Amino acid sequence: MPDPTPSNLVPVNIDGRDIAVPKGTNMIEAAARLGIEIPHFCYHPKLSVAGNCRMCLVEMGTPAVDPATKQPVIDPATGRQRVNWMPKPQIACFTNATPGLHIRTTTPQIKECREGVMEFLLINHPLDCPICDQAGECKLQEQATDYGRGYSRFVETKNVKPKRTQLGPRVTLDDERCILCSRCIRFSKEIAKDDVLGFVDRGSYSTLTCFPGRELENNYSLNTVDICPVGALTSTDFRFKMRVWFLKTTPSIDPESSVGANTEVWSREGVIYRVTPRRNDEVNDTWMADSGRVLYKQVTAGNRLQQPMVDGKPVALEAAIAAAAALLTRSETGDRKPENPEPGTGNSGSQAGSAAGNRKPVIENRKSLVAVVASGRQSVEEQFLTRCLAAVLGAVRTDLVGRVGPGDGLLISADRNPNLRGALVTGLIKEYPKTQLTELAAAIDRGAVRTVICFGENLAEAGLSPAQLGKVTLVEVGTHLTPASAVTKVLLPSLTVFEKAGSFINQQFRVQKFSAAVPGPKGATDDLALLAQLIEACGGGPQPKTVEAVWTELATQVPALAGLTWTAIPPVGKLIDGKAWAGLPFVEGETLHFKPVSPVGAPLGAPAKA
Ligand code: SF4
Ligand code: FES
Repeated sequence: MPDPTPSNLVPVNIDGRDIAVPKGTNMIEAAARLGIEIPHFCYHPKLSVAGNCRMCLVEMGTPAVDPATKQPVIDPATGRQRVNWMPKPQIACFTNATPGLHIRTTTPQIKECREGVMEFLLINHPLDCPICDQAGECKLQEQATDYGRGYSRFVETKNVKPKRTQLGPRVTLDDERCILCSRCIRFSKEIAKDDVLGFVDRGSYSTLTCFPGRELENNYSLNTVDICPVGALTSTDFRFKMRVWFLKTTPSIDPESSVGANTEVWSREGVIYRVTPRRNDEVNDTWMADSGRVLYKQVTAGNRLQQPMVDGKPVALEAAIAAAAALLTRSETGDRKPENPEPGTGNSGSQAGSAAGNRKPVIENRKSLVAVVASGRQSVEEQFLTRCLAAVLGAVRTDLVGRVGPGDGLLISADRNPNLRGALVTGLIKEYPKTQLTELAAAIDRGAVRTVICFGENLAEAGLSPAQLGKVTLVEVGTHLTPASAVTKVLLPSLTVFEKAGSFINQQFRVQKFSAAVPGPKGATDDLALLAQLIEACGGGPQPKTVEAVWTELATQVPALAGLTWTAIPPVGKLIDGKAWAGLPFVEGETLHFKPVSPVGAPLGAPAKA
């Protein structure tokens, strides 16, 4: 990555316009800074340079220097240093900015070069654009329009290559459309570290294929589809489902892990058709995992909660909220006293929590035997309101379910919660969560907890036995049926990450926003609205019900988010200071743009400062 400090800037000239760019900047990128497009196929900003498509040819010149005196040769007509233009065009993608470099991108020679390259590329390319799934986002089609000759002189028979080859479980190849740019090969080797693709045969017969006995089956295989500039590689799941120009895109975040890969959700009329990566050079570059692309299917899953229920019977939302509030605020008549709030509960002061508790009238001296089970999949805003709810209820404990899996060193981290750090920052929890609710289970067994309100977690998977679930009154806020739903007293359907707006704080302590791509089911309610209504029904007073309104509170009551507003968070997210939590045993190893730090803030493996 070129160093952008002023001392490292070098002057270059593109089409007669001067610009200073960091030394080493690729000339395709340098031209883009001036709004000048240098057409290209094989170049990709996140891959090595192959230089094989030749579409990026430009005229190139260097400042003239007198060989005898080594002094600049000044053109008397212009008063500027003369430029020695090379006789033949050069490829821009393989040229980095050096002081005084000149390029020309619009000359007759370059126009002819581009027309020639397009003609060669189209010799064996089928002219099946009307039935090609890439239509609407095909670089070959776009550049044929912008830079092609407009007619074909080819009268021979085109090569026929394999069609509909299944390269792996998720990727289908139409080989005759391949322009041999090798982006997919380089991605597999350099990024996915799965060197599985290659070309066989020569010249016009070159064909992309997998190595014998291998498949393109790694969890990043669909990135090859994203970067294929033509319709050769297609997603088996998406192909022929919908024309892309009918789809709208919504910025979102991959909720699979604490990496928080930036994504785009493609939808039409309330239906999601695909999820693709959104470029963020600080988090995921231009990549995402295949596993994150199918999560949208949870929106229409058969076990989706669609109707508020009380005692297994459908009721109106207001009735369900009232029933939940009655259960959560009822006085316990047993002679057992509530336990002191345990670490991580919503009642004890912390960076943010005390503010949440102070803001709302806490009902004092209630013999509350309520426990809150929060989630690392809740948004920052929801976690903040969950904390407020716990404070209003005087909950005896607030737990959060840790979720740990193997990290892949790329874009899936070992912390499989997208927003564990949000729970820490908002003060919802103070300790690093366990993956099993063993302490809650023990509290239930000794009668210290009699009511549980659970937000989007599977309590059975989290370690509560059927017997323990049978001992408590359960209020569930969630998106899908869980084993515990069968014994749930009040069920409040809520929204998935694809149906609501909010933010997650990723492993870098980067606050990242996501937006609603599609509406939720008719009977489901936005989690923020549910939380606000629950708090109000439990006596907590008027609550903010939109993300913007919650951020007004977050900015004043959560020190780490002080002064930040919803609208001020940029599309690439905003880093906040996470030093206060540096001592916690985060489980993440290294991922694409993240190196774990030791409790003293030094990179792991580096000597700790005294
Ligand atoms: S399949 Fe696509 S990405 Fe791969 S070499 Fe061919 S054109 Fe390039
Ligand atoms: S982009 Fe293909 S040769 Fe430069």
